[in-house]
Amino acid sequence: MALQRPKGTQDHLPEGSPKLSLDVRASAFAQVQDTARRVLERSGAEFIATPLFEEAELVRRGVGGSTDIVRKEMFTVYYFGDHGGYVLRPEGTASIVRAYLQNGLRQLPSPLKLWTHGPMFRAENVQKGRLRQFHQVDYEVLGSTDPLVDAEAIWLMWEVVRELGLTGVRVKLGSIGDPSDREAYNAYLREVFTPHAGRLSDDSRDRLDRNPMRILDSKSAGDQALTLELGVRPMLDFLGEEARAHFGAVQGYLSDWRVPFDLDPSIVRGLDYYRRTAWELHHTQVGAKSALGGGGRYDGLSAQLGGPEVPAVGWAFGIERLLLALEAEGVALPAPEGPLLFLAAMDEERVGLAARLALGARSAARVEFAYRALKPGSAFKEADRRRARYAAVIGSEEAARGVLNVKTLATGEQRAVAAADLSTFLSEQA
Ligand code: HAM
Repeated sequence: MALQRPKGTQDHLPEGSPKLSLDVRASAFAQVQDTARRVLERSGAEFIATPLFEEAELVRRGVGGSTDIVRKEMFTVYYFGDHGGYVLRPEGTASIVRAYLQNGLRQLPSPLKLWTHGPMFRAENVQKGRLRQFHQVDYEVLGSTDPLVDAEAIWLMWEVVRELGLTGVRVKLGSIGDPSDREAYNAYLREVFTPHAGRLSDDSRDRLDRNPMRILDSKSAGDQALTLELGVRPMLDFLGEEARAHFGAVQGYLSDWRVPFDLDPSIVRGLDYYRRTAWELHHTQVGAKSALGGGGRYDGLSAQLGGPEVPAVGWAFGIERLLLALEAEGVALPAPEGPLLFLAAMDEERVGLAARLALGARSAARVEFAYRALKPGSAFKEADRRRARYAAVIGSEEAARGVLNVKTLATGEQRAVAAADLSTFLSEQA
């Protein structure tokens, strides 16, 4: 058997590929990116791109040493003679904050809205919707503590979902408070769970020590039942005055703008840098891996990376998850158009002429040509297969007169177009 791609990765395929599903259709992927770009750039977000690999230390300090991502899922990069100090980025936020600090972006107008998209890497157990190389659209706002910025960030996520035509999406909104609130809550959780530690899953017993809040995020049915049985109080009960006011303000804006959300006290998020507002967008039909995206405020991250205090908030969508949701809802993403014109020559001597006309017309539109001579019937069939709108076949007569018979494939209608006017004709149709 020929070599296969690594587990947990996908090929993005062109139109017409056999067994093409939406989540690997390259054009669908591009349409999701374009929708996000449109929505985000309208809000004033600037595009930024960072390397696919970073110092492992950045990810360790940024994402946090107690997370699954850092403990179990990092792809380490080795090259000849190297120490292995790099990792493939598992997410975009830490890199964007690094780039902001390193490149003096604090001098730009504040708050600064940045966005990016690209592949992320996590060595996870693979299942539907959970890949080792997946793609995110990522939006970050740096330089403001204002709850209005959090609310706008959530509104933008909602807008992307709306523009894509998805309907079965819920915003789950929570707050994980300030660090001191979280300390108090973790102390409370340790007190509640420690006497029952023997009933917790191995993972959660481990979390009891390092990060008890993650127990609330456990997928184990036993852990979930125990949490219920013990009547564990939600994080929201432990919010300090400022975090509570901030959270109230975010909800106020969202209600005002008619963004529907559910308060979800169990929102924990899988990364350590969050504080205050945290949220996820879930889809009702995508199965266990239903989070289409998530985000939150991360005011402490810049200082954690050795920079000054820079308050910030942001989010990321998983593009593959969005595509699975679109597929589940049966939202049709239109296939991209084929060439405006397909040109073929009827005999070998004129293949070069057809090519020259096609190349000359490409400043006006997408124009393709046949690389060998075709009979008119085959030429029109080929044009159809390529989803062309018009086709023309060049024989000795057309060549001598300098006129093409341009056929509209959908209707069969023909019209004569002077070869010299081809670009003008195509510009008028495009
Ligand atoms: P995250 O929740 O880890 O947050 O990832 C965001 C989204 O990426 C998830 O909701 C999911 O749709 C997608 N995703 C994550 N892991 C996988 C996977 N293994 N396979 C497929 N899709 C996946 C972050 O990454 C934060 N950086 C978001 C953020 C930005 N917070 C503040 N700013």
